[in-house]
Amino acid sequence: MSEQAEALTDTATRSPHIIVVGNEKGGSGKTTTAMHVTAALLNEGFRVGTMDLDVRQRSLSRYIENRKIWVGRRAVAMPEHYPLEEFNYNDLSLRQRAEQEQFVAAMTHLRAGNDFIVVDSPGTDSYLSRLGHAAADTLITPINESFVDFDLLAIVDPDDLSITGPSIYSEMVWSCRKARAQADGGSIDWIVVRNRTSHIHAKNRQRVETALDQLAHRLGFRQATGLSERVIFREMYPAGITLLDLTDEEANTNLTMSHVAARAEVRALVSALNLPGVAL
Ligand SMILES: Nc1ncnc2c1ncn2[C@@H]1O[C@H](COP(=O)(O)OP(=O)(O)OP(=O)(O)O)[C@@H](O)[C@H]1O
Ligand SMILES: [Mg+2]
Repeated sequence: MSEQAEALTDTATRSPHIIVVGNEKGGSGKTTTAMHVTAALLNEGFRVGTMDLDVRQRSLSRYIENRKIWVGRRAVAMPEHYPLEEFNYNDLSLRQRAEQEQFVAAMTHLRAGNDFIVVDSPGTDSYLSRLGHAAADTLITPINESFVDFDLLAIVDPDDLSITGPSIYSEMVWSCRKARAQADGGSIDWIVVRNRTSHIHAKNRQRVETALDQLAHRLGFRQATGLSERVIFREMYPAGITLLDLTDEEANTNLTMSHVAARAEVRALVSALNLPGVAL
């Protein structure tokens, strides 16, 4: 366990820091980001709880199930995953009550023994997703460098690309921030992270970056560079591990320069999150 992790663990009264990965845009890289942030924190020796609010798709849950096959075979730290059930009651209030009770039970359980709780959310608006967002200390929103993704954050004038107002996801985050402030006076550190970046399409990239800079100020988020487009970020999913879980020996024999750069990207992302007690 690293010294930072020990310091955090020793502070018995400290409640865990909750990291929610969310965006109502499907396929923007939420699960991939949640997996890599979880692996990075585990590798630093922190105790990490995980929750998958995408109760239909369950990609993060499946990744962690895949990870279990390594237990006893190699040193792979496991997060404490709290599986959530999908409720299909037709009565909306009945369903929301069941979801809320389950969410509170999961949080209470994971809070007891972890330094961080990483929460993955679905690519659509849902009651469960709102509960997760309202509990966030840190909210990571991965977006692809495209105006299709940008559209979930802000409405843009088609003529000059100026921002005319917030969009559905930003409105949702705003109401969760308000709910959070009223509930316990807490605030949500919102970080929009560019995912699947590539060195091509430089012109489009520049335009999206300019629009994001304007929006960051208006909506109150920070920006960070996320993961670039690399096969290594997706090919290890069935094995339930990431390139951060390779032993030094495996890394020395298998890691290419591109993998070394990929590891550095994950570490830079986690560092940019400014998580309490984490210095990467
Ligand atoms: N940096 C990356 N490099 C390469 N492939 C990536 C990267 N990030 C995500 N992907 C791939 O893009 C697809 C979508 O990513 P992911 O499942 O993480 O998105 P998501 O936001 O969780 O999607 P959903 O909204 O459906 O839950 C997956 O096939 C994933 O492997
Ligand atoms: Mg997902």
